[in-house]
Amino acid sequence: MSLEEIYAGVTREIAEVDEQIRTSVANKGTFLSEVTGHFLTASGKKLRPAIVLLAGKACGGNRKRLVNLAASLELIHMASLVHDDIIDRSVTRRGNVTANTKWGSRVAVLLGDYFYARALGLAAPLGERVNRALSEIVGSLVEGEFNQLENRLGSNITETYYLETVSHKTARFISLCCRLGAEAGKPSPEVVDGLSQYGFFTGMAYQIRDDILDLTGCSSNRGREHSQDLKSGVITLPVVHAVNNGPCGNEIKELITKDRLTVNEIRKIIHCVRLTGSIEYSAGKAREYICKAKESLQVLPAGRARDALTLLAEYINDRVS
Ligand code: FPP
Ligand code: MG
Repeated sequence: MSLEEIYAGVTREIAEVDEQIRTSVANKGTFLSEVTGHFLTASGKKLRPAIVLLAGKACGGNRKRLVNLAASLELIHMASLVHDDIIDRSVTRRGNVTANTKWGSRVAVLLGDYFYARALGLAAPLGERVNRALSEIVGSLVEGEFNQLENRLGSNITETYYLETVSHKTARFISLCCRLGAEAGKPSPEVVDGLSQYGFFTGMAYQIRDDILDLTGCSSNRGREHSQDLKSGVITLPVVHAVNNGPCGNEIKELITKDRLTVNEIRKIIHCVRLTGSIEYSAGKAREYICKAKESLQVLPAGRARDALTLLAEYINDRVS
């Protein structure tokens, strides 16, 4: 099933989120508008806004508030991607050349800051509770990125460290989208907890699938360079598993400490990862999180929102781009 079909119950609201983002970053005729326009030409999966809206609908939240919240969270996500591409020296995202490649890091840092500023502006009327939560989640994203940076030389190649990083940089954010969406309505504490858990587990699975696709996916489908993680020294679950369980673990360990890898070295690592069965292992882990995510949805009454969130979890498990 396609994302459009899964999002069918919130299509109009997603279009409103898009509109709100465009309006909030509009700056006609300036260099800044050229740079923001470049980012906005390629639209992402809208996973975070869709989750806010679906959780919000399930709990009877006010539509205007939900759209505002979803736009603010998506802008934070956009800011984090722009900064992430500088850190990872990524050349492409969503099939487009990145801001750091097109205009350099100085412009890209400012673009990320601008998105972040606009996110805060949209969240301002949503109250202290929401604003505190946003401040905490941005802190968590930064901590996740720091963990990843610290581990570039492979000092901590353990599954625990990897999962902790993913929790900080992805899962907690998606969990927050669920929680804030739910709290825009009148949910019971059990529903808030269940939806927050759904978001957390879905986020863990999403990042693990993303990390698998980085090694196995087709770059033109994904709009990203192949093995970007290895190129930027990011050590992901398939590699962690191969280092700790494979016949050429020590060899991979030595290679990933290098500042730049050659094409042959990247091929060698991927070969070892495949040989160890580390792709299947990681896919199994993602599947476990998806099962837990679906179980967490039992707190919701049967209905359109629950069905869409279930299908979304399945989509993440099967994603190819
Ligand atoms: C993508 O991960 C990046 C993140 C999930 C978070 C990045 C967070 C920051 C840079 C902190 C700064 C935050 C703000 C709001 C200014 P990835 O590299 O695994 O995925 P990718 O393949 O999409 O690049
Ligand atoms: Mg990245």
